[in-house]
Amino acid sequence: DSCSPLAIPGASSTVPASQPQGSFSTVCNLHSTYHAEFILGEVVLAREQATGKEYAIKILEKRHIVKENKTQYVKRERDLMSSLDHPFFVKLYFTFQDDEKLYFGLSYAKNGELLKYIRKIGSFDETCTRFYSAEIVCALEYLHNKGIIHRDLKPENILLSEEMHIQITDFGTAKQLPSDSKQARANSFVGTAQYVSPELLTEKSACKSSDLWALGCIIYQLVAGLPPFRAGNEYLIFQKIIKLEYEFPEKFFPKAKDLVERLLSLDPTKRLGCEEMGGYEPLKQHPFFDTISWSDLHLQTPPKLT
Ligand code: ADE
Repeated sequence: DSCSPLAIPGASSTVPASQPQGSFSTVCNLHSTYHAEFILGEVVLAREQATGKEYAIKILEKRHIVKENKTQYVKRERDLMSSLDHPFFVKLYFTFQDDEKLYFGLSYAKNGELLKYIRKIGSFDETCTRFYSAEIVCALEYLHNKGIIHRDLKPENILLSEEMHIQITDFGTAKQLPSDSKQARANSFVGTAQYVSPELLTEKSACKSSDLWALGCIIYQLVAGLPPFRAGNEYLIFQKIIKLEYEFPEKFFPKAKDLVERLLSLDPTKRLGCEEMGGYEPLKQHPFFDTISWSDLHLQTPPKLT
């Protein structure tokens, strides 16, 4: 039977993520109430029969996780995602498992990756750039206030809901900073080359500000269509990053250009939005965001991407 004990202790709970772990009785019930409609890579779209509600179920193979030494990342993803409660993040609703696999029941972001839209329309107009940049700022403010660094923020990890609001995902490499200590840096993990911060390359440590660097890269990409640091291989990209070697296309929106320049600072303590610079208020007050009403972004109708 599929209701067997964990091969990876603590790697998955068998009850909704918000509840304490324990009973196995819900495993089969839950399992039988979902049926896969189609496969999104390792994520399957499922519909809950009783409610008609859709979930993206992320399926992970235990054997693979153990072999690749990814146990701690999987646990981290589960723990961090279940601690998030904000409209701009994919929510973890439940987890369950069988002999071979772990299943994470996530909110289904119907419109897929932000990257898809960048590729489809080439680049965003100023209104769309402002709106989506503001949603990412809002999401990062929430995350950083909770002491969490995402560490791999990029347009592939920014999904879009049916209403076209952002839903950030992929917390396998995120880091919760200890709340009691003064540790503001996390070690070892290197994210995706094009969005990696210079401090990660030179000091091998990331901080909240590293996500602000990625934000700068993403805003640049929304306007220009491509990320700022580009080269034939990762090594050459890294060299450009540590030398802050990038250029703006000629018709880059001037206020967006100023904002990107204030985010892409080699010194992480000089980036707009970081604690040393006074936190999120100065970032939200930047002239590029002049027309943004911050308090109800997730209730606004997003501008049409054309
Ligand atoms: N692909 C990966 N995670 C997803 C999610 N939560 N919704 C839609 N597609 C996804």
